[in-house]
Amino acid sequence: MRVIVQPDYKRASQWAANYVARRILDFKPGPKKPFVLGLPTGSSPIGMYNELTALNQAGKLSFKHVITFNMDEYVGLPQDHPESYHSFMWRHLFGRVDIPAKNVNILNGNARDLDAECAKYEDRIRKAGGVRLFVGGIGSDGHIAFNEPGSSLTSRTRVVQLTTDTKIANSRFFDNDRAKVPETALSVGVGTVMDSDEVLIIVNGANKARALRHAIEEGVNHMWTVSALQTHPNGLLVCDDEATLELKVGTVRYFKDVEAANLDPATLLR
Ligand code: GLP
Repeated sequence: MRVIVQPDYKRASQWAANYVARRILDFKPGPKKPFVLGLPTGSSPIGMYNELTALNQAGKLSFKHVITFNMDEYVGLPQDHPESYHSFMWRHLFGRVDIPAKNVNILNGNARDLDAECAKYEDRIRKAGGVRLFVGGIGSDGHIAFNEPGSSLTSRTRVVQLTTDTKIANSRFFDNDRAKVPETALSVGVGTVMDSDEVLIIVNGANKARALRHAIEEGVNHMWTVSALQTHPNGLLVCDDEATLELKVGTVRYFKDVEAANLDPATLLR
């Protein structure tokens, strides 16, 4: 596992965006060879989406041959609701870059048969050749996508029940009213994310410090689903300083030391 520690959120977002851009550019995607990218919602990736948009608008990166799969969506929230993950993604990324609408995949939380929708989603990922790079964020309880504590680490895309903690955390988007947060969601599984060639998780802010400690210093545990990243051959955690508050000083120094030898992906973009 690689752990990238950046001084603040802006720098962490730039690092993540440059890394994603570098991966897409190196792949040289084309009509017959699209780059398959997994994407999250939440406040953590917004900075990265702004940076990716800037790269796109500067003509340095195109999404024309990128196929995306989002991690999750609320059940029962109308697609055009401002807090649906569909709306979020078009607002923060898809509506601002040159991605064709047909390349965007987001789970339909209003499908008549939700289980069939989830099975179809897994199928679509498989048919696209699998996800090359899955980008994610985490909840303060260490969940990835909506894989709440106790989710199987081999779980696949399915209907999930949101925990009280998550409903409280997400109520900030629903007039601070927990009752307005949907009870359930559709989410890719931990296994779905782990199947991708690479996983990059953005972790910022002091409220994620405990989860980051579990992700790095504690063992693999279904109560902190992000810890499954320890079993992935190409796992990458991109953090800001604040998120490292609960890590041992030695752990932070170790990862900074290891990364000192690596090139910043920004230098490769120039
Ligand atoms: C929701 C999403 C997760 C996201 C998490 C953290 O639970 N389903 O994918 O990682 O929120 O959100 P934030 O980045 O706003 O802290």
